[in-house]
Amino acid sequence: MTVSLMTLDPSVQMPAQMSTFAPAVDDIYYFIYWMSVVFLVGITGAAAYFSWKYKRKPGVKAEPTGHNTVLEIGWTVAPIFVLIYLFHAGFKGYLDLAVAPADAMEVRVRGLQWSWDFEYPNGAHMNQLVVPVNKPVKLIMSSSDVLHAFFVPAFRVKRDLVPGMYTSLWFQATQTGETNVFCAEYCGGRSTENAQSGHWSMITKAKILSADEFDKQMSAAVGPPEGKTTEQWGEILYKSKNCFGCHTVDGSKGAGPSWKGKFGSTETLSDGSQIKIDENYIRESMLDPQAKIVQGFGPVMPTYKGILNDKEIDALISYIKTLK
Ligand code: CUA
Repeated sequence: MTVSLMTLDPSVQMPAQMSTFAPAVDDIYYFIYWMSVVFLVGITGAAAYFSWKYKRKPGVKAEPTGHNTVLEIGWTVAPIFVLIYLFHAGFKGYLDLAVAPADAMEVRVRGLQWSWDFEYPNGAHMNQLVVPVNKPVKLIMSSSDVLHAFFVPAFRVKRDLVPGMYTSLWFQATQTGETNVFCAEYCGGRSTENAQSGHWSMITKAKILSADEFDKQMSAAVGPPEGKTTEQWGEILYKSKNCFGCHTVDGSKGAGPSWKGKFGSTETLSDGSQIKIDENYIRESMLDPQAKIVQGFGPVMPTYKGILNDKEIDALISYIKTLK
């Protein structure tokens, strides 16, 4: 009974259909939508018509009309069948969404205040979701701090990332291209001149590539990009890992200390002790940010343990050293 409204273009109500789930989700949505339109018009229309037709007239006395058994049973039973259909369609769709195919490619997703980290089978990390077209992809998701929610409207998938547990979802993209990934759970933020530090900055892209292009990007993502020095790679990571959300490189104050002139300087920590900023301090601050906090800053940095590998940490430290 479902007429598939498969469209690649977004409609007024729905974004483009870019996964195998989209047609089924939209079919149920539009079924409920049009059913509601029909009943809204039918019921309001009938109510208006009857109030006009049977309005009080001089000399006419109202009398009980009795009842119509067939009609009453009919309008009680008919909706039951509609509800059974909706339950069936919804439950079937839910099962499809809940159980990933065994051959799905697994991607680890971490949500942190305030960015995403996607880890691919070859160990590459990105802050965007990159997937091959026409291949099932399973996301194993966790949160480094608070509740986040992974939401890709064009795929019609959404699930919470919960601290202390794994959640997962899967999808199969049906066309190459690009679409938006949102965090759909308000996960905090500060009022600061820096617009990058908050829930709203957790918007990123999902890129759907051909199998060849996907393999190419994956192998390029595990080390410094071709022709770049370690320092330059560090600068790229500074942007792609969202370090810039809290740390400036021009000396101005953000949620965290600016990186400018930081390397080799002596800082006072929140407990009053002094420390010289060296490689070990920076490394520790990335992996265990609450261990030694510079005075005047809050304990707000998430850990990058499992997100930055050793090579990337080295590259970031090399970059910080260049910021004199
Ligand atoms: Cu993460 Cu909102």
